[in-house]
Amino acid sequence: MSSDMFGLGLDRSNTHKTLLSCIAVTKRFKSGKGSVLAVDGISFAVRNGEVIALVGESGSGKTTLAKIMAALIPPTSGDVYFESLPLSSMSRLDLMRFRKRVQFIPQFPDLALDPTWYLYDSIAEPLRIHGMVNSRAQELEIVRNNSSRFGLSIDQLRRKPRDLSGGEVQRAVIARALAINPDLVIADEPTSMLDPSTQAKIMRQLLDAHSERGFALLLVTHDLDLAKAVSERICVMLKGKIVEEGSTDEIFSNPMHPYTRSLMRGEIIMKEDDWQAACPYYGQCSDRLDRCTSSYPPELKICKERFVRCWRVA
Ligand SMILES: Nc1ncnc2c1ncn2[C@@H]1O[C@H](COP(=O)(O)OP(=O)(O)OP(=O)(O)O)[C@@H](O)[C@H]1O
Ligand SMILES: [Mg+2]
Repeated sequence: MSSDMFGLGLDRSNTHKTLLSCIAVTKRFKSGKGSVLAVDGISFAVRNGEVIALVGESGSGKTTLAKIMAALIPPTSGDVYFESLPLSSMSRLDLMRFRKRVQFIPQFPDLALDPTWYLYDSIAEPLRIHGMVNSRAQELEIVRNNSSRFGLSIDQLRRKPRDLSGGEVQRAVIARALAINPDLVIADEPTSMLDPSTQAKIMRQLLDAHSERGFALLLVTHDLDLAKAVSERICVMLKGKIVEEGSTDEIFSNPMHPYTRSLMRGEIIMKEDDWQAACPYYGQCSDRLDRCTSSYPPELKICKERFVRCWRVA
């Protein structure tokens, strides 16, 4: 997909202030007798009004990181800062304000809506919780505007999730996230349940809303073409780490990490292997060096806002 396809006219020279940042965020899940290190010491920032994509293959830790950033699960260590305030020290009231300003669109929308509620009430609920409407008429207008934008009719709003398709539920979850006018939308594979032509249509609506309202969008996706078409910056994740970060133009014109290049070639990459190397890509890497087995490369700054973690580049 090209950015023209979405008619975005992105201003990639924009500089924005940091809205939300992760500092050394790690998440370890208990799993059976062992544990899984899903996110491994990640630091990066989302700025006001930008579209940034978090890409990586399945299991690289994208959803886990996105949920930590949305304060849905706590990190094992490290912290997330929203406008400089750490999530770990937020009061209930701070957290409530945070939830009004940061919305999460989940990868699996069927788990996100109360199955006993009509769609209308699920979409209206955040407006009520945050005291954003003064009357039923105002509520109806906001719910209708946001729902119709994503192709949901009044008839569909009168149904419960079991009487809707997976794609309709996904659109309802997007409409609900946008209804309260957040400053940041964290969208985790937001169109995964839709067929390709509907995907493009819904993505275009999401981006139109971004252009009109100016919210920042963190798009989690394994689809590099989509990331290229819509984002200003890209972070590439591999096994819980960000291995490359930079402007979309630079990442695509000059991908530096061998893993990024493999992703671009559409290769299926990671498999469990016996390598005990410091770099998780060692087993598959055609550019590997002896050094890659003993120490993980530090974050190498190539130029302003361009980072890569690879001994070969170093
Ligand atoms: N609640 C959990 N308990 C144990 N392990 C988990 C849990 N959630 C995620 N994981 C593991 O953490 C790793 C990262 O998972 P995550 O869902 O963040 O990946 P992802 O990049 O979003 O993948 P996908 O593209 O398939 O959605 C995986 O190995 C996964 O099995
Ligand atoms: Mg995921």
